[in-house]
Amino acid sequence: MMSRLPASTPPNTRMLRLVLDLARPYRVTLSIILAAMLVETMAGLGAPWPLKVVIDNAVGQHPPPAWMLAVLGPALTANARALAAIAAGAIVLLTVVGGLASYIDNYLTESVGQWVANDLRMRVYDHLECLSFTYYDTHQTGLLLSTITDDVATVQDFVSESTLAILVDGMTIIGMLGLMLWLNWSITLVVVAITPALLLFAARFRRAVKKATREVRRRESDIVAIVQTGLESMRTVQALGAQDVELARLGEASQATVNAALTARRIKSLLSPLVGLIVASCTAVVLWRGTGLILAGTMTVGSLTVFLAYLGRFFKPVQDLAKMTNAIAQTNVGLERIQSILEIKMSAQERPGAREPEPFTGAIEFEHVAFSYRPDAPLLRDVTFSVAAGEFVGVVGATGSGKSTIASLIPRFYDPTAGRILIDGHDIRDFTLRGTRRHIGFVLQETVLFHGTVRENIAYGRHRATDAEITSAAELAHADEFIVKMPGGYDALVGERGLTLSGGQRQRIGIARAFIRNAPILILDEPTASLDTESEEIVMVGLDRLMQGRTVIMITHRLNTLRRADRVIVVQGGIVAEQGTHDALLAANGIYAHLYWTRAAASPGSPASRSRQEQITPTDLSWRAR
Ligand SMILES: Nc1ncnc2c1ncn2[C@@H]1O[C@H](COP(=O)(O)OP(=O)(O)OP(=O)(O)O)[C@@H](O)[C@H]1O
Ligand SMILES: [Mg+2]
Repeated sequence: MMSRLPASTPPNTRMLRLVLDLARPYRVTLSIILAAMLVETMAGLGAPWPLKVVIDNAVGQHPPPAWMLAVLGPALTANARALAAIAAGAIVLLTVVGGLASYIDNYLTESVGQWVANDLRMRVYDHLECLSFTYYDTHQTGLLLSTITDDVATVQDFVSESTLAILVDGMTIIGMLGLMLWLNWSITLVVVAITPALLLFAARFRRAVKKATREVRRRESDIVAIVQTGLESMRTVQALGAQDVELARLGEASQATVNAALTARRIKSLLSPLVGLIVASCTAVVLWRGTGLILAGTMTVGSLTVFLAYLGRFFKPVQDLAKMTNAIAQTNVGLERIQSILEIKMSAQERPGAREPEPFTGAIEFEHVAFSYRPDAPLLRDVTFSVAAGEFVGVVGATGSGKSTIASLIPRFYDPTAGRILIDGHDIRDFTLRGTRRHIGFVLQETVLFHGTVRENIAYGRHRATDAEITSAAELAHADEFIVKMPGGYDALVGERGLTLSGGQRQRIGIARAFIRNAPILILDEPTASLDTESEEIVMVGLDRLMQGRTVIMITHRLNTLRRADRVIVVQGGIVAEQGTHDALLAANGIYAHLYWTRAAASPGSPASRSRQEQITPTDLSWRAR
């Protein structure tokens, strides 16, 4: 499961902190929005009043209220036609002012919503880029994908659409209640009595909706994960004829989504009709009671008009707020998921006060290093060896013995569980991660090409490399010769995974990348393993050049490559079982010699297989006894 920060602070507090954090840069805009909303709300509240003035004071014979006398003066107030004209003008004016304010707050909230989404995307991705490999080893990326797209979009929608509605609705409810109390408190009490019940009912609903929504989102990310895995391995799927299996898997997840979505909708759809019924009963009571008050002469027709106008609009915001529970629930779930990603601890962490390393000379030491991917399966138990600056060291061992793992400990893709690794005499955990990695070059078994030009792909080794540097790196890597023959040359686009290039060509691009990086430490993990003999030779020419003057750690199954190595380290059973030069290890007739001879036997005609008969009998498996 995801590792979370110590749950000392309650989740809601942490969520609130995230929200405040996100809102902080937009304080000024948010205040403008709030002001515009106030104006919009007031214009809305004023809307039925011109009608009341016309009914009660222009057409009817009620004495003008004090505020009207104060604003318009006695002459205008007494003139029915002038009063009607002013009321008519006020209707237009209120609409214009309200419309302008609404335009401003609509635009600005969308803008805040978009920028918040932008901030969130960058923040989540930035965090993901720093996570240790352990996280990616154990988690599906589908969930992360859907968080970065869907959940961020949900939050954005909420900020853009719902916050505005919620605030305007809230202010409208309060304003209307105030004005209604002022007009006639006894009828208002009917409304006031019902509002809390309505809100309580909505809040109860909220919890159920949230639960159902979370289930839907979980199912949806299952679908993304399944489709993503399927698409990524389409070749394998088709080659093995596993289409039906994949389709069935998707079908299952897809049906689960449908079921979850329908359950959620069933709950949500109940809300509106129930609220509608409550509202209708309430209106009925007010109409009946209001008519009684007018007949008794304690209320004006104009006031009841305003009352009914408000009542018709009063329950709409309440109902909207209730509907908003859906948006709030969804956003809550989205924020929770974003939060849980932001709270994943990076396992390869920098120590406080980690410093930028000086350019390395390249001496590497492993001191009693232990490591395992899973606690129940120890992999490296006690690995100790040292590599002098500029030395060429080969690492060999059976498949699965942990060679690649040893290599990935140096750039701190993982940290050892015990022991330490030193570069130039300093524990690498004292350096910043980026700093350490900048001084390490890699050529791995597969060179992954990104979608882009050949030039960009080479420059991926070091950004801001000049064109001249790129060309010369390509020449040194023996890549220039095929690049210039490609249509477009250095500007040719290579596919998502470099499918348009052969394995050997890709490796040469990989070597050019390492040249550009020009790091003092070079890690080669089976750089020629996937190549045939012919392209291996060309790649080796480039590699030889690359290796000059650097500390090289080369993992390889092709032991002949290690004839020139200064030292060979043999990993077995979680420790360094043997070390020495190629020749010395052969002479010692141990694990290395055994590996060498069995592999040589597998490729008849090689120098090793020819000399094998002279040196060793096929039954000599004495290495097992060691
Ligand atoms: N990311 C990982 N998460 C969990 N286990 C892993 C991971 N990578 C490797 N392992 C396991 O650790 C062991 C050593 O893997 P490693 O890749 O270091 O071996 P290797 O010596 O490089 O093998 P090969 O010669 O096949 O490349 C294997 O048993 C492998 O299953
Ligand atoms: Mg490996």
